[in-house]
Amino acid sequence: MRGVILAGGTGTRLRPLTNIVNKHLLPVGNYPMIHYAIEKMASLGIEHILLVIGKQSAGLYTEYVGSGQQWGVNISYKIQEQAGGIAEALALAEDFVSPGEKMLVILGDNLFLDDLTDAVNEFERIANGAHVFLKQVPDPKRYGVPVLNKGRIAIIEEKPEQPQSDYCVTGIYMYDSKVFEIIRTIEPSVRGELEITDVNNVYAATGQLTYSILSGWWLDAGTHASLQQAAVLLTGRDQE
Ligand code: DAU
Repeated sequence: MRGVILAGGTGTRLRPLTNIVNKHLLPVGNYPMIHYAIEKMASLGIEHILLVIGKQSAGLYTEYVGSGQQWGVNISYKIQEQAGGIAEALALAEDFVSPGEKMLVILGDNLFLDDLTDAVNEFERIANGAHVFLKQVPDPKRYGVPVLNKGRIAIIEEKPEQPQSDYCVTGIYMYDSKVFEIIRTIEPSVRGELEITDVNNVYAATGQLTYSILSGWWLDAGTHASLQQAAVLLTGRDQE
């Protein structure tokens, strides 16, 4: 299993903090945000991780993350020139993942407690297709929201006005290597981005999208309020 952490994007909802430093380098608890996704992947035994970053603060990433040695992993880097969407950022991993290999993808601003070992092993062992992790949230409108039907995801709606469930699709995904072909078939959305939700919906349409539900806390730390909430949760952890 290869690891891909997506840390491009513009972080507009965290301005003015992100005027001077990339979102994923902002402090959360005792570490920069990016630390946690790398730590998660290392804890799952993933040895090779691709970090997709934007041009902003690129030098600071190498200063903090370096080769990945401090976590016992090998980090490679790719630069996404512009914030063309999550699926565009993932496309940059094509020559990092061999055909037939699978990957765990984590959005760099997603912070969470769950241990993913069982789901990762299960996906590695039997499944082709894609797997998403859901979380029940009070404000599903902010996220990708699954429409659930008889234990399956029928479709995912991106930031719907009227959410069809109170689950969100978190920024934690697993894919087979067919994902790169699928990304080539999708078109930019109205916000001008290649959407990961459109990619996931191709898998859903062919019955190849499975899911698990996270039981511990999960946060998308992309707003000032959630960044502060994350700091409280993770500072507590680091002092234990
Ligand atoms: O956090 C979960 C949500 O993430 C999902 O529920 C949504 O379906 C998904 O679209 C995404 O929504 P956001 O609006 O929160 O995505 P955002 O633009 O904030 O990007 C999230 C992360 O993805 C960001 O921390 C870095 C990475 N990213 C994003 C863009 C737009 C890139 O690496 N490159 C990009 O061009």
